[in-house]
Amino acid sequence: MELIYTGKTKNVYVLDDGNYLLKFKDDVTGEDGKFDPGANTVGLTIEGAGKAGLRLTKFFFERLNEKDIPTHYVDANIEKATMKVKPATVFGEGLEVICRYRAVGSFLRRYGKYVVEGQPLDAFMEITLKDDIRQDPPISEDALDMLRILSKEEYSVLKELTKKIGNIVKSELSNKGIELYDIKFEFGRDKKTGEIILIDEISGGNMRAYSDGRYIEPLELERLVLGE
Ligand SMILES: Nc1ncnc2c1ncn2[C@@H]1O[C@H](COP(=O)(O)OP(=O)(O)O)[C@@H](O)[C@H]1O
Ligand SMILES: [Mg+2]
Repeated sequence: MELIYTGKTKNVYVLDDGNYLLKFKDDVTGEDGKFDPGANTVGLTIEGAGKAGLRLTKFFFERLNEKDIPTHYVDANIEKATMKVKPATVFGEGLEVICRYRAVGSFLRRYGKYVVEGQPLDAFMEITLKDDIRQDPPISEDALDMLRILSKEEYSVLKELTKKIGNIVKSELSNKGIELYDIKFEFGRDKKTGEIILIDEISGGNMRAYSDGRYIEPLELERLVLGE
């Protein structure tokens, strides 16, 4: 098993069968020891965070596969905190696709002149570049096309998939009395078929979820959604 990438919260290995293995770590993003799903640095280590993130990821990817939404998911081993996935190539050096239902996080910081905190946003999608040094700058459809990162056709596929997937996650949470405020996805092209697929993870580390106006931390989210 060859280690090909050491990420902030996961390591990526190539398996003998050509698939990738994602190993979920207990490291979570944040700053100064405080968890923040929008942060670009590892802020702290929480025991059990890796397995909890994987359990939620497994749960959501299985829901998506049932609905025939194209994803990289193959299977997961919770004990080992690993997930087997189909290899994908990312757009440029990687994009983050955010789906927003309420104004919080970087959206509120950027547009605070025009929105109030928590204002409803109706599955608003925006894309940022994965570029830690430049703090993940937002990028427009035209700029993505001009810089040959994503064609306009691909942009519209991403937009449709993002809203669909965001709404599925939102309704799964809503079944448990939890409200999704925003969520971050990653997409890539399936190395074999070229199809645009959802990659990476769907866990508490990539979303902001609230219950009665109270923010729910990733470990608690996993317990509330999946039970003990
Ligand atoms: N199916 C896949 N094919 C290729 N790369 C993937 C796939 N799924 C996830 N990745 C990449 O693997 C890395 C996972 O590790 P992570 O710690 O989340 O990294 P990062 O620090 O870049 O967020 C991410 O860079 C993500 O883009
Ligand atoms: Mg990541």
